Amino acid sequence: MNILVLGSGGREHTFTYKIEQSDLCDQLFVAPGNAGTAAIATNVPIAVTDFPAIKELVLKENIKMVVVGPEDPLVQGISDFFANDNELKDVTVIGPSKEGAKLEGSKEYAKEFLFRHNIPTAAYQSFTAATVREGKKFLETLNAPYVLKADGLAAGKGVLILQDIEEAKTELENMLTNKKFGAASEKVVIEEFLDGIELSVFVLTDGKNYVTLPTAKDYKRIGEGDTGLNTGGMGAISPVPFADAAFMTKIEEQIIKPTVDGLAKENIDYKGFIFIGLIKVGDDPKVIEYNVRMGDPETEAVLPRVKTDLVSLFQHVGNQTLDRANLEIDPRSATTVMTVSGGYPEAYEKGKEITGIDTIKDAIVFHAGTKLDGDKVITNGGRVIAVTSFDNDFREALKKSYQNIEKLHFDKMYYRKDLGFDLAP
Ligand code: AMP
Ligand code: GLY
Repeated sequence: MNILVLGSGGREHTFTYKIEQSDLCDQLFVAPGNAGTAAIATNVPIAVTDFPAIKELVLKENIKMVVVGPEDPLVQGISDFFANDNELKDVTVIGPSKEGAKLEGSKEYAKEFLFRHNIPTAAYQSFTAATVREGKKFLETLNAPYVLKADGLAAGKGVLILQDIEEAKTELENMLTNKKFGAASEKVVIEEFLDGIELSVFVLTDGKNYVTLPTAKDYKRIGEGDTGLNTGGMGAISPVPFADAAFMTKIEEQIIKPTVDGLAKENIDYKGFIFIGLIKVGDDPKVIEYNVRMGDPETEAVLPRVKTDLVSLFQHVGNQTLDRANLEIDPRSATTVMTVSGGYPEAYEKGKEITGIDTIKDAIVFHAGTKLDGDKVITNGGRVIAVTSFDNDFREALKKSYQNIEKLHFDKMYYRKDLGFDLAP
């Protein structure tokens, strides 16, 4: 079968790496891809939201499966585009319908879904420009810190957590009246602050059945000790050591099952990944967000642990037979450490030559923001390369990732050296 992966980051290189290993895959295409995917598949310079160009490619290359990496094409309805097109309707798309993708595309929609299905989450209310005054009054009923969330997609920047009530009121006004995050903040969700440690759970569902993939913990801030600006993610550890069997049972019973059952009950067509962001409050899991795709860089730690043929899992998703899949997971820990361009997540330069990639032998190199320049690999984004390692314990795996990162070089390369600092040994 010929397969297309949409996207160009570390997540998509990881998908490509796993799919390329499958006997079920013949030709593998990535649009637009990066220097890492170019080495193991055919990159095609098409944007992930250019649906007509994607259609043309799929028909020309006889592609039968499309794996959607990022959220944008999902929120814009790529699955519906395929389902409603006579020439494309038999292609398996891994990614939910436009309605399902609202779980990520609208925070308010996600909160309403959580409440409808009695899934534990923070209390909230939502406001618009017409109700700024009520929003400010609502803030006065809460204790600090104050959590303000732009309703729509804001490239991971739409959540503000503020200590000071006056600042919270000003920011609420900025978001609603001054459209701080453009159309994304025409509505704002104000949420109760949840105090605890975060983790993420990944579910693959065919809309009726599901499998739970390994847990992961992401390190989002640029600075060590979780300080400084938010990034797309500076590294990840899988599994999360504190997510023991009892806690996972709670997650499954209170969160995963009601989520998948809720989608089915509401007739929401959902064939793809559900990434559930959780906070452990005391001993209980509470949902802070849904994403309708895999995480990046969580994928770089989670998918290498999945031993089951990924394409066969995706076929089960397409056929709604995931109950027959046999999920086999590598029991070792995997860690991934992201190298980034100096300056990221603010302004940074691109086009720096990356050396040392070929000297890494006992870790996996996943490219994120890279591209080919003749036979050189150069930087092409904020997050550049992730290095994934395995060991029986996450600290040993991290050591390997760090040892190998030292073999990599590019001008102003930066990475966090303290991943796992918040986890018990
Ligand atoms: P989100 O985009 O919803 O994942 O939010 C971004 C980050 O804000 C999360 O990863 C959490 O660290 C934090 N966050 C979101 N909602 C809450 C909440 N209700 N209480 C505490 N922290 C939160
Ligand atoms: N690493 C967080 C995300 O993919 O949203």
